[in-house]
Parts: sequence; structure tokens; C-alpha cells
Amino acid sequence: MEMLFISLIVLAVTSAVNSCPPSDRAALLDFKASLKEPYLGILDSWTGADCCGNWYGVSCDQATGRVADISLRGESEDPIFVKAGRTGFMTGSLSPSLCRLDRLTTLIVADWKGISGSIPACVASLPNLRILDVIGNQISGEIPADIGRLSRLTVLNVADNLITGEIPASISNLQSLMHLDLSNNKLSGSIPADLGKLTMMSRALLSRNQLTGSIPSSIANIYRLADLDLSANKISGSIPAQLGQMRVLSTLKLDSNQISGSIPGSLLSNTGLSIINLSRNYLEGYIPDVFGPKSYFTALDLSFNNLKGSIPRSITAAKYIGHMDLSHNHLCGPIPASSAFDHLEASSFMGNDCLCGMPLRTC
Ligand SMILES: *[C@@H]1O[C@H](CO)[C@@H](O)[C@H](O)[C@H]1NC(C)=O
Repeated sequence: MEMLFISLIVLAVTSAVNSCPPSDRAALLDFKASLKEPYLGILDSWTGADCCGNWYGVSCDQATGRVADISLRGESEDPIFVKAGRTGFMTGSLSPSLCRLDRLTTLIVADWKGISGSIPACVASLPNLRILDVIGNQISGEIPADIGRLSRLTVLNVADNLITGEIPASISNLQSLMHLDLSNNKLSGSIPADLGKLTMMSRALLSRNQLTGSIPSSIANIYRLADLDLSANKISGSIPAQLGQMRVLSTLKLDSNQISGSIPGSLLSNTGLSIINLSRNYLEGYIPDVFGPKSYFTALDLSFNNLKGSIPRSITAAKYIGHMDLSHNHLCGPIPASSAFDHLEASSFMGNDCLCGMPLRTC
């Protein structure tokens, strides 16, 4: 009796430590089989029975013993990389077999430069997935249409790949999403109008795609949003004035698009916004005269637009403007003098119709 009791305990302890369900192990081995990592040999560690033990980048849930995380980063401080003196390189594709790991919470296969193929559509059926990060590969195809089913997803990072198609409408259902990075792909179509439903989001990075349409004003409802980057797309329409009312927004990059209309005064009077880049658009009208003693800009770039009139007087009240670029517009008149931006060079003002005064020629 006592013997049986002890062996039950031993069994329980060993299965908690040495726990890799054969089905998870098989799924991992199928996943491994479609990848090739020739230089570091990290996938060589994926051998033996205990996939929760020393399989590089794999970890399991303590309670369930199921595979919970796959975290493979090609750029890392890990001694394997330091010793090899190189960053990672991997080819192959992401096998749909990983969807059999139905307790997966983290899928990071980042910065391997050579992984191609598409994101398996079945990842949208992994109910516990919190992090999906495949940045820095050659992944093509589309973002799975029903990605919005991932109600626990907090990070969606597919930046620096070759992803085509539109941003799926269902993305607005990712109610837990905090960090969205779709930068540097080949996404087309417009930004979903109800993206503003993602109220947990703090970073939305969509730059360097081929997005068209206008900026949804619903974005202003994302009250935690600190960083919005829509630069280098083909976005048109005007800038929603509501963006100027956002409390936490500190970086707004809309440069290199086809945005028209005038600059909302609310944008330049929002004292939390310290980086604004509206360069290379079709903005017109006057620069709003809304600066004040709380105006503090690390960077304010309005260059290459069709802005007219003079540089507003109130700008002399600004506390600090680290980098300001008003070049290549149709501005005219004297450049106001202010210690807040007396470090600026002529290049910040050149290419206008008739600006004058320091650092340009005297009026
Ligand atoms: C603003 O965007 C333009 C065009 O994309 C870029 O050349 C410029 O360096 C950016 N300005 C700042 C201050 O980063």
C-alpha cells in the first residue's frame, strides 16, 4: 500500500517535470521539419522525449505540462549567437502543424530573415495565443481573415515581411491587443474604419505599406494610444481633428502620404504630442497659431507641403522645439526669433516663397 502511494507520488513528480505530451512533441517535430537553420544548430536541440526540457526556445505550462511558448529570435544576446559571432538565419516555412499545439500562448519566430511561406490560417484557432511575432522574415500571403478570433492576443507583429492583401476587418475584434506592428509589408486597401474599437492599444505601426483611404477618426477613441505611425503609405483625405484631443498620444507620423486639407489646430496645441511628422503630403492652409508656453516638441516636421502664410507669432512662446522643419512650403514673411528654436539651421526654412530673417537672409 505504502509502496504504491510512494510510486504514485514519484510518477506525479516526474510527469510534472518531465512532461511533454507525445502529441505536442510530434507537432513540434513536424514544425521543425519545415525549417532549416544551418549555422547555429539550435533546432538540433529539439530531440529526445522531453520537449519541455532542453528544447531551445520551447517552454511548457507548469500546471498542464502542455507546450505554451515557442520563442525563437534570430537576433538575440543569447550566448549561442555571441559565440557564433553572427545573427540567425533560417529558411523554410511555418508549418500548420504548430496549430496542433492548442495551448500555445506565445509564437515568436522573429528576425530569421529567410523564412517564407504564409502565416498558417489555423493560428486564428489557437484560443490562448497572446503573442504572435514573426517580424523580419520573408513571409508572404495574407493575414488570416479571422485573426479577430484571437480574443487574448496582445501583440501582433508581422513587420518587415512581404505580406499582401488587406488588413482583415476582423482585426478590430482583437479586444486585448496592445501592440500592432504591420510595418514594411505590401498591405493594400484601407485601414478598417472601426480600428478605434481596440481601446487597449498603445502602439499602432502601419508604416511602409500601400494603404489607401483616409485615417479613421475612430482612432481617436483609442485613449491609451501613445504611438501612431501611418507614414509612407498612400493615405488621402484630411487629418481628423479628433487626433488632437488624444491624451496619451506622443508620436504621430503621417509623413509621405497624400493627405490634404489643413492642419487641425488641436494637433499643434496638444501638449502631449512631442513628435509630429506631417512631411511630404498635400497639406494646405496656414500653420495654426496655437503654440504656447507648454508647447514642447522633440520634432515637428511640416516640410514638403503646400502651407502658406507666415510662421505663426505664437511659436515664439513655445518652451522648446528640438527639430523643426518648415522647408519646401509656400511660407512668407519674417522668421520669428526665439530661444526655443534659435539652434535651427537655414535648411529648416529653405524652399519657401519669401521667408526671411535669421537663419536666412535678412528681411
Ligand atoms: C519626417 O518624414 C520625412 C519623410 O518621410 C523624413 O525624411 C524626415 O526625416 C522625417 N522627419 C523627422 C524629424 O524625423
